[in-house]
Amino acid sequence: MYHKYNAIIVGAGGAGLRAALELSSVSDVAVITKLYPTRSHTGTAQGGIGAALANREEDHWEWHAFDTVKGSDYLGDQDAIDMMCREAIAVVYDLEHMGLPFSRTPEGKIDQRRFGGHTKYEGKEPVLRSCYAADRTGHMILQTLYQQCVKNNVVFFNEYHVLDLIMHDGACRGVIALDIATGEVHTFHAKAVLFATGGFGKMYKVTSNAHSQTGDAPGIAFRNGIPLEDMEFFQFHPTGIYKLGILITEGARGEGGVLLNGLGERFMERYAPTIKDLAPRDMISQAMYKEIREGRGVDGKDYLLLDLTHLGVDVIKSKLPDVTGFVRTYLGIDPVREPIPVQPTAHYAMGGIPTDLDARVLADGVEAPVPGLYAAGECACVSVHGANRLGTNSLVDIQVFGKRAGANIAAFVRESPLLPLPPSHDAAVVEHLSRLRSSNGGELVADIRAELQREMMDKASVFRDGAILSEMLNKVAELKDRYGKITIRDKSAKYNTELTEAVELGYLLDLSEALVVSAIARTESRGAHFREDYPERDDANWLKHTLAFSKEKGIELRYKPVVITRFQPKERKY
Ligand code: FUM
Repeated sequence: MYHKYNAIIVGAGGAGLRAALELSSVSDVAVITKLYPTRSHTGTAQGGIGAALANREEDHWEWHAFDTVKGSDYLGDQDAIDMMCREAIAVVYDLEHMGLPFSRTPEGKIDQRRFGGHTKYEGKEPVLRSCYAADRTGHMILQTLYQQCVKNNVVFFNEYHVLDLIMHDGACRGVIALDIATGEVHTFHAKAVLFATGGFGKMYKVTSNAHSQTGDAPGIAFRNGIPLEDMEFFQFHPTGIYKLGILITEGARGEGGVLLNGLGERFMERYAPTIKDLAPRDMISQAMYKEIREGRGVDGKDYLLLDLTHLGVDVIKSKLPDVTGFVRTYLGIDPVREPIPVQPTAHYAMGGIPTDLDARVLADGVEAPVPGLYAAGECACVSVHGANRLGTNSLVDIQVFGKRAGANIAAFVRESPLLPLPPSHDAAVVEHLSRLRSSNGGELVADIRAELQREMMDKASVFRDGAILSEMLNKVAELKDRYGKITIRDKSAKYNTELTEAVELGYLLDLSEALVVSAIARTESRGAHFREDYPERDDANWLKHTLAFSKEKGIELRYKPVVITRFQPKERKY
């Protein structure tokens, strides 16, 4: 089947929908999504979207920018961070005007809560900056944007799984996708494509990420010769439900919740005396691992406690209703009365497809845009999060850069002709699918995936070490070899999820390799990348972004400088 649109957006999370909405008033636009839009992973973002509205106390976007740069361990690009923090205010009001039901102050303004790493007077104390809708902020963003997109005639192709880009003479001319319901391959011919597929937390065993988070866009871009930036930086959120990884929002600590070790101590007082439980996620997750390793886990086990019992039933009910429900459902615990067992959970990829401030994908990772190809949100790296993202800034990122992507694509499609499709544009994809479908080597996708997730959790998560990372690299090579010998038992065309999971596993393996190779090379500790064999940050040698290229001989690494404008790197203390 053949479809033609000015613009195709792949992914119906907050970035994709925001871009689609921006485009919809000036161009035809279609969204391809492997889920139903309102089930996109943005829906699991809980605690809020950061913006210096100053509704409850003094705040400035410049303070937000300072916190974001410091939170990023000085690896974030400061031109992009300034733009994001300045524009955060407008995108929050956009959402309000679209009807998003924010929680309110008594005077009726958007309410704001504290969040990790967000401070006033550049680090003095936590600030009320996160605009929230109870603990369902991402869910509300999705619902609001989806309704607006439907109203504005955005076309949706739900349950279509993107398989490849159509590239010719260095320009993007569309995408190929699988209709999951029928098994048919479709061609989407377009002037411009936006990738907005989210992250790839499913490479880890304990993760807050939905099953859909398999890095489809970064995986496809990488295979098409586009580098991946800063892949070694993967964020672990401190409060995942023990063993399950399901997120307990940082908003719980913003409302006054505290972390306790097995001795009942508020251990964060030792690691971040100024802002304690509201330190950035990298520092808290590393502190939690240290407490557990030194025997101060609960009952000697590998978990700690999040205590909300002192907040009172009213705060918990009105401000944290969803997470309370999760804990009751999955653990049989009532957080009003008992603390919650938690452990760090793989949450967010700081790295991804390199883009410029206009969301244009960079072929060389530095300055050469790929005509017609854009990326925004977690799958992209602009880079506003550097080595560690602050909580709430993912929702800011998807709204600011989703909107910018939409506006820039609108200008591009107005000026550009539709380039013809290259001959046999879908032949390689059809061939790849039929090879996968008929493969009969005996290895099962689920087994390889489970082993990858276990091994990545053990060898490439919060604490890292060169020798162990090298073991992980060998493991990825072994798993890739086994991936070449899989059996797909389901031979049917309709809803063949064994087939689509095989495709996704291919991306997870490639992205794990890129992460591990980048992490081995970076012989320092910065943000979420903590090397036990190189525990110090090393600005002299490593204040630079990694670019990983997929080459015939393996992964090749190059580097590019960080954009530094107002804030010179300093020791990061909280
Ligand atoms: O903790 C949270 O509510 C997650 C938010 C985020 O990742 O920004």
